Amino acid sequence: MPGRGPKKRGRGGDPAEHLRLLTELLPAEAAADDDAWLPAPLDPAVFFPEPAPIELEVGCGKGLFLASAAAAQPERNYLGVELAPGYAKLTAARCAARSLPNAQVISGDATLLIRSLLADHCVQAVHVYFPDPWWKARHRKRRVLCEPFFQQAARILAPDGTVHAWTDVEEYFLEAMEAAAATGLFQPPRSVPEPVAQNDFDYRTHFERRTRLADKPVWRAELDRSDRSPPNRQPITPYERIRLRTAATKTDESSRPTK
Ligand SMILES: C[S@@+](CC[C@H](N)C(=O)[O-])C[C@H]1O[C@@H](n2cnc3c(N)ncnc32)[C@H](O)[C@@H]1O
Repeated sequence: MPGRGPKKRGRGGDPAEHLRLLTELLPAEAAADDDAWLPAPLDPAVFFPEPAPIELEVGCGKGLFLASAAAAQPERNYLGVELAPGYAKLTAARCAARSLPNAQVISGDATLLIRSLLADHCVQAVHVYFPDPWWKARHRKRRVLCEPFFQQAARILAPDGTVHAWTDVEEYFLEAMEAAAATGLFQPPRSVPEPVAQNDFDYRTHFERRTRLADKPVWRAELDRSDRSPPNRQPITPYERIRLRTAATKTDESSRPTK
């Protein structure tokens, strides 16, 4: 019986070429019990074929912004990071379908990636759109937009870099602006006018489309980094190490990119 030929794909490239797993970027020592251990800093430029300013999107969901921005601005590189493996795969598939060499997604926890792995001044922008609000009091500590996040965002940003933060939760927005101000590492936030949407593709993200079609308000801000010195990278915490070990054991057939 003749051997099977290469697996057929639809139009576009291979999603696996747009997807990386955080567990595979962190050396095995990351999950070991050593509180002081810190991996070598990673320059995300290694993920892209062409050198260009890099923009990072935290929680890229299904990848509408990442793919649209990469298609509209081929002179920039776009890196998404997404906690839900299924959504990370969807984003990679979307980038592959549009053959976008300047778009990559990392499957894993953005907080851990930024805080412990990304090099200083390696990105030009950090985008956070509609981060999960974590309503329950005991889950609040999971909110991404908090003071330690802004400290680390300032560290990885180029000196003239910007954080873009949009949410549909006013209370979370105000809390995030206070957290950014408390770091002393950002200029006061600029508000961003609501863009007019002529059609379904004029929304920046899936959640923006969902929120505006429901006639709900969106709070938007851009925060430019100030020129004060940001803090250092932070070691991986014992809690994160447990999560890493768990993720690594799950990094099997279900979350591994298909070749
Ligand atoms: C409400 S959705 C918004 C998705 C997208 N930004 C949008 O506007 O359509 C929040 C996303 O952030 C992801 N997320 C939550 N915490 C995260 C983390 N620590 N690191 C990376 N992604 C995270 C969730 O899995 C989810 O896909």
